Amino acid sequence: MLKDRQILLGVSGGIAAYKACELVRLLIKAGAQVEVVMTENAARFVPPLTFETLSGHPVHTGMFDKHSNPLVHIELADRAELLVIAPATANIIGKIANGVADDLLTTLYLATKAKVLVCPAMNVNMYEHAAVRENLARLKARGVEVLEPESGELACGWEGKGRLPDPDLIAEACEYLLAPKNFTGKKIMVTAGPTREALDPVRFISNRSSGKMGYALARAARANGAEVMLISGPSALRPPLGVKRVSVESAEDMRKACEKYSRDADIVIMAAAVSDFRPRAEAKSKIKKEKGMAQLELEKTPDVIAEMGKQKRKDQILVGFAAETEELVKNAQKKLKEKNLDMIVANDVSKKGAGFDVDTNIATILPKRGRIEYLPKLTKLELSYRIMDSIKKKFF
Ligand code: CTP
Repeated sequence: MLKDRQILLGVSGGIAAYKACELVRLLIKAGAQVEVVMTENAARFVPPLTFETLSGHPVHTGMFDKHSNPLVHIELADRAELLVIAPATANIIGKIANGVADDLLTTLYLATKAKVLVCPAMNVNMYEHAAVRENLARLKARGVEVLEPESGELACGWEGKGRLPDPDLIAEACEYLLAPKNFTGKKIMVTAGPTREALDPVRFISNRSSGKMGYALARAARANGAEVMLISGPSALRPPLGVKRVSVESAEDMRKACEKYSRDADIVIMAAAVSDFRPRAEAKSKIKKEKGMAQLELEKTPDVIAEMGKQKRKDQILVGFAAETEELVKNAQKKLKEKNLDMIVANDVSKKGAGFDVDTNIATILPKRGRIEYLPKLTKLELSYRIMDSIKKKFF
C-alpha cells in the first residue's frame, strides 16, 4: 500500500510529461507523499506550478535553484523510498545508465539508495535503437525496474511501442515495488467476478458482481511477491500488473479452470460470485417472444469451493467468501465448516459501502481456529492487504 510512503517523481522532457500530473494525483490519493523533480526540458512542457499544486511541495528543477539549499539533492535522495522517472526520455535513460550527473535528476539517481522505477516514453524508432536498448539492459542489470512502454499511436504520429503506460498502471507498479514480499515463492489462485449461465445464445442469468474484490486480492497477492493466477468471470476490469488471467463464463467453466489451476497452488482464494443456479437446458437458438416462456426451469450449479474443500491437499490453504444479508457470523461459520475452508471472509452485502460493485467493503475475517477479526469499512484493496496479512499470520 502507498499510504505514507515517500515517493520522488522525476519528470523528464517528453510530451508524456502531462501524464505525470495524473500520476501525482493518483499517488497522493493513495496516501503517498510525493515530491517532484523536473528537468529543465520537462518544465517547458508542464509548468512546475502544476506539480507544486498537485503535490503540495515545492518542485525542484536545478541543482542551484534560488529557493533550494545546496544540499537539496542529498535531502531528497535520502528521504525517498522510491524514485520514479516518468516519463523517462532516451536522453535521461542514456545519462543515468552511464553515470552522468549533470543536473538535479541525474544527480539524485546517483545519490539515492531508494528503489528506482524507470518508465520510458519516446518515438518507436528511438525506443528500438540499439543505444536505448543497451542502456535499458544496463539499468535492468543494475536492479532498476523498467516499466515497458505500451504500443499504440504515439504523439509524434508514428504507430508502435513507446507510449507511456496509463498513470494507474505506473501507480500500481509503485505499489508493487514498495509492498512487503510475504509470499515470495508461493503460488496463489484467486477467483473473481460473476458467472453467466446461458439461457439461449443471447440471454443469460448472472449477478451484480463486478470482480473488484477478486481483482484487488490478486493485486495484493502479486504485490506480496506471489505468482498469481486469476480465474475470472466476465468483468470489465484489467488484470493487475504481473497477474496471469484465465477468463471463464459459466460456473461449470469456473469449476474446470479451478480444478486445473488449483493443483499446484499453495493458497486458493475464492472471491467469485458463482451463480448458484442455471437454466436446466440451454436453447440452441434464440427463444422467440411469440412462443412465450411460461416457466424457467433451474438447476443447481456445482459448488466449486465445496469441491475444492473435499480434494484439498494437507498443505493447501483454502479461503472463501460469504455474502450474507443476515446472521453474518453464524452463516459464515456454517459455510466455513461445511465447505472445509481454512478461513472465510464474511460481508453483509445489504450494508451501504459493502458488497457488489462498490470500491469499499465491510468485512469480518473468520479463521478455522482463533480470533474473529471485525474490520471497519475499507477500500477493497486495503481489505485485500489485510486478508493477505491474516493468511500470513495464521498459516505461514
Ligand atoms: N461458491 C462456489 N461455487 C458456487 C457458489 C459459491 O465456489 N456455486 C463460493 C464463493 O466463491 C464463496 C463461497 O462459495 O467463496 C460462498 O459463497 P456464497 O454465495 O456466500 O454462499 P453459497 O454457498 O452460494 O450459499 P448461499 O447463496 O445460500 O448463501
